[in-house]
Amino acid sequence: MLTRLAIASHEEVYRIEDAEAGLRGFIALHSTRLGPAAGGLRMRVYGSDEAALADVLNLSRGMSYKNAAAGLPLGGGKAVIMGDPATDKTPALLRAMGRAIDALGGRYWTAEDMGMSPDDMAEIARATRYVAGRDQGRHASGDPSPVTARGVVAAMRAGAARLWESDDLRGRHVAVQGLGHVGWHLCRILHEAGARLSVADMDAARVATTAREFGAETVEADAIHSTKADILAPCAIGGVLNAETIPAIRARMICGAANNQLAAPQDAGRLHARGILYLPDYVANGGGIINVSAEILHVAEPSVWVEERLGAIRARMEDILARAAGEDVSPAVVADRMVEEALLARAV
Ligand code: NAI
Repeated sequence: MLTRLAIASHEEVYRIEDAEAGLRGFIALHSTRLGPAAGGLRMRVYGSDEAALADVLNLSRGMSYKNAAAGLPLGGGKAVIMGDPATDKTPALLRAMGRAIDALGGRYWTAEDMGMSPDDMAEIARATRYVAGRDQGRHASGDPSPVTARGVVAAMRAGAARLWESDDLRGRHVAVQGLGHVGWHLCRILHEAGARLSVADMDAARVATTAREFGAETVEADAIHSTKADILAPCAIGGVLNAETIPAIRARMICGAANNQLAAPQDAGRLHARGILYLPDYVANGGGIINVSAEILHVAEPSVWVEERLGAIRARMEDILARAAGEDVSPAVVADRMVEEALLARAV
């Protein structure tokens, strides 16, 4: 059922097949240098095996960076199931995935990602104990989204202090792209902090609710990135900072929850050249994995532990921004370097 693939960039990669359960997918462990590889399980339709493999390789590498940047004793891993979560997901398929995860003996821990819910995690948990992001149980950590939003605000305050010599967000204008699990909580916290909001989503009902609840201005989804605001907060999809959008951005700072905001590494340089302060996404959005990791690591006092690490997001971001300013480079360059140094230090 598990076939190991030799891929030089990753420690272990497996193809998973269980015809009886209708399961096809991949598990990738990018690095276990800092601890067991942790990262969510994604289920979606892929055009080909190659596309699914490319996704799991890319996402697992991203998890190594995110976990290291959050100061967690966890490596980077990810799993994908090929199929439509609305029609192909069955208890048998989830348990088969659980058995595949279990066969790795704790070197990979899973949790929710796109197409998965806490109920699915509970089903997987019938076949393996290496699963987090559950609603119930002794160490259950629940929905990570509010914690992710709090981490984004902590990072935003570090950016505000650097740009405007005050971390006070009162009166700051924030343009929020995407009002889903994280985006809504982000709007709530920013509203409570006295910020002014402009919001956009593909879902008109979400836009209307958020605008009403937090007195936000509404903007068309294809125009939110060019809103004249102090801060742009991408909280929807990846790749939104690219050669086409960057010239139109009118915010001074970018800080949001979305993964892989830069379409290509050189987009960090494009933002820097325009004098736009880009706060590296995987540092700003580490709150979710911090919350999940309390469950993985069976932390005795999770609320205190999570709080300390949210504080560390801000401190780490301040450090990254100070070094980037000193070297006149994008904070993305500094963040990548810091993580790579941390991973290398453990390799020897
Ligand atoms: P979600 O699926 O609940 O919300 C995404 C929202 O973005 C939806 O309301 C969707 O309609 C909207 N959207 C999609 N395309 C859009 C576009 N082009 N313009 C405007 N709105 C658009 O997802 P969630 O959980 O809120 O996550 C948001 C982002 O943050 C994702 O990139 C996710 O990978 C990332 N993230 C989430 C974490 C979490 O704790 N949920 C943790 C770390 C990262």
